Amino acid sequence: MSLNITFLKIANETSDSAVFLINKGSDFTPMAQEFDEYLGGLLSHSIASSSKFSGKNGETLIIPLPAGKSFKRVILLGIGAPEDYSAARAENAGGKLVPALRATGAQNIALFAGDFKYAAHMVMGIKMRAYSFEHYKKPAEDATPLRQIDIISDACEAIETNYQRLHAIISGIYFARDLVNEPPNNLYPESYAHIIRDQLKPLGVDVEILDDKKLEKMKMGGIMAVGKGSDHKPRMVIMRWNGAEDKNAAPLALVGKGVTFDTGGISIKPAASMDEMKMDMGGSAAVVGTIKALAARNAKANVIGIVGLAENMPASNAYRPGDIITTYAGKTVEILNTDAEGRLVLADCLTYIQEITKPAGIIDLATLTGAMMVALGHEYCGTFVNDNEFWSKIEQAGGDANEKLWRMPLDEVWKKDMISDIADLRNLGKTGRYGGACTAAGFLEHFINDGTPWAHMDIAGTAWKKTDGTLTPKFATGFGVRTLEQLVYNAYEGQ
Ligand code: BES
Ligand code: MN
Ligand code: ZN
Repeated sequence: MSLNITFLKIANETSDSAVFLINKGSDFTPMAQEFDEYLGGLLSHSIASSSKFSGKNGETLIIPLPAGKSFKRVILLGIGAPEDYSAARAENAGGKLVPALRATGAQNIALFAGDFKYAAHMVMGIKMRAYSFEHYKKPAEDATPLRQIDIISDACEAIETNYQRLHAIISGIYFARDLVNEPPNNLYPESYAHIIRDQLKPLGVDVEILDDKKLEKMKMGGIMAVGKGSDHKPRMVIMRWNGAEDKNAAPLALVGKGVTFDTGGISIKPAASMDEMKMDMGGSAAVVGTIKALAARNAKANVIGIVGLAENMPASNAYRPGDIITTYAGKTVEILNTDAEGRLVLADCLTYIQEITKPAGIIDLATLTGAMMVALGHEYCGTFVNDNEFWSKIEQAGGDANEKLWRMPLDEVWKKDMISDIADLRNLGKTGRYGGACTAAGFLEHFINDGTPWAHMDIAGTAWKKTDGTLTPKFATGFGVRTLEQLVYNAYEGQ
């Protein structure tokens, strides 16, 4: 059941609950004031007798109404002090409203937004938090899912217009989350490639699928080695969105790691939490989700996405530690650990994208290293960038998009660390796990042509969370979609 949003001037009679926005210091917004008077001061009385609620951003107070009133209950939502209003804070307030609504059993809600400037972002926050993955679970008999939220305002048309772009982003985030949450018996390279094609083609995206025969023929030795031990053979998917007026303008290139399940291969991972390695295609999901968002809002930019899809399994025909493989770039790699597989998949994607186009910039996203999670945890995405100007654009986009990025270092030392004694490269840094996120980035750097702006986002910590966040219900977060969409909006649409 997905939550439907409409924008109206006057509340519907079918709404069972009303939400009013309250400023910090329990200062009433005009619509709340009016309703308080209608209720004979019940709202202000309730606030006075609550020791907790003071209208701070994201605070909620539930007030059941007596029989005969137009709603069963009122929920007050704090939006902080007017001087602190911002898009991000409105999103966070919207995110916090969702569990409060669910706790009351509310299903049809009238949210009185009045002239609140960031109403569209509040809706964005609500939609982000209200996501749930329910393809495999029957709802409980007594479930009361959120069905409908009407945003009530005299300026409802303007709010709806502001929300249009955000709605496209939501569709991209939901798509990315669905893909990551999907179990690996159903989401494997071939099925994944078909889902991408079926979802993106109708939106006008050109989708090209390279199957294992083609990849083999092309000598894509990185991605093919990783997928060798699996019956589900690798795929590479190229998505082209040419929305710019100048169809020949250099595109922004987005590259995603799509390891649909990472057992570690012969260097097998421990059993504990191995199930979570279905999320190892989170980078590819962010790319696919971004392309969906851009197409859904008809972005005026040229963007090319490429994802490398493979399943990393142990088998008698799997690649092994000790093997030397030849990547698409022609560089040989000594395999020292089959669990350092993502970089091999990315290497082939990076080489190919630079061969078929001369991108204005490349961003790859990958759940690449546990070391990244150790360094920055679940909140910040470590971002390695070889170009200061490119970084300032990405940093700005992350800030605008309410996603946290942290710049990480690239250094010749780590590039050298990835050179093998018996092959061109090795897939494991010489210091083993120390600085593992940095050596992984150093490996990728060997596949970037001189002068190409490039960023590598290691989303190992941010793509998946085991606990609910304000805007991210537990499990797949869809991290990256917002930053990438925002980057295109800020820097590649000529405005
Ligand atoms: N997919 C993992 C990284 C990962 C770990 C992502 C935990 C999300 C959560 C990656 O393929 C991997 O196994 N990396 C190894 C690299 C090591 C062998 C150099 C790691 O981080 O341990
Ligand atoms: Mn691995
Ligand atoms: Zn992996």
